[in-house]
Amino acid sequence: MRGLKGKVAAITGAGSGIGRAAALRLGEEGCKVAVLDWNEDSAKATAERIREAGGEATAIKTDVSNEPQVEAAFAQIVKTFGRLDILVSNAGIFSGERDGKVDGLPKAVWDEIVGVNLTGMYLTCKHGVAAIKATAGKGAVVLTGSPTGMSGCTPANVAYGSSKGGVHGLSRVMAVDHAPEGIRVNVVVPGFTLTPIVRELVADPKVYEWQVQNIPLKRGAEPEEIAGAVAFLASDDASYMTGSFMFVDGGLTA
Ligand code: NAI
Repeated sequence: MRGLKGKVAAITGAGSGIGRAAALRLGEEGCKVAVLDWNEDSAKATAERIREAGGEATAIKTDVSNEPQVEAAFAQIVKTFGRLDILVSNAGIFSGERDGKVDGLPKAVWDEIVGVNLTGMYLTCKHGVAAIKATAGKGAVVLTGSPTGMSGCTPANVAYGSSKGGVHGLSRVMAVDHAPEGIRVNVVVPGFTLTPIVRELVADPKVYEWQVQNIPLKRGAEPEEIAGAVAFLASDDASYMTGSFMFVDGGLTA
């Protein structure tokens, strides 16, 4: 893809799943990659895989919901690589059975999910965009959204759906605010994606068939299929795209 070679990219939640696949892909495309995750071992493992493939990477233990940690992480990226061009704000948690309908949802669960999925993206964008402006001057931001933030397709997930709806709103306002500065902001919207935890949950073929019945392509996505869209949105091939939503969902929302 055009314009990725030599760029510096920071990716949150890059220790697993979609974030790991996006980090590996951006590494393959020639980016220098800062791998951020609150799980230090998995962040280190992703960075190691990028280096083994001949790329450049550094792992930084960061909880995206903790502002001092986020601020320190971006300072470290600039110290290590001298600049930041691309931010992929991806870290998120899906609380499954702990989430619920609004009248039975404990506030602590709401705070935890919104704190990581929405406040975490606000904090990484706050410090990531500041780092892009102060160093590269212009660049690209890609946020990971969800069909659940746009429809009631996953019932009894009030906190998760609200957090992702908030992420979609954040992206639109950021896109307008930062377009004059040459910073593009887009959202990748993954459908049912077979990350390690999801793969475990649908290990039983009957559960898997039930999950994919309403997906026109009749299968889940591999994380690498989402990573391709992330790399495209971060690249100069998407130079006229900002404020956009790229659905990579097998037709789920068609
Ligand atoms: P995953 O669980 O495989 O990876 C998430 C990564 O984020 C993990 O490495 C985890 O340690 C990290 N993380 C969690 N909370 C963190 C925090 N506070 N600070 C730093 N790192 C943190 O999950 P997956 O599926 O790759 O999720 C990535 C994004 O994709 C999330 O935003 C999720 O909501 C979104 N998504 C996933 C879908 C799926 O079907 N897997 C569908 C739609 C959206």
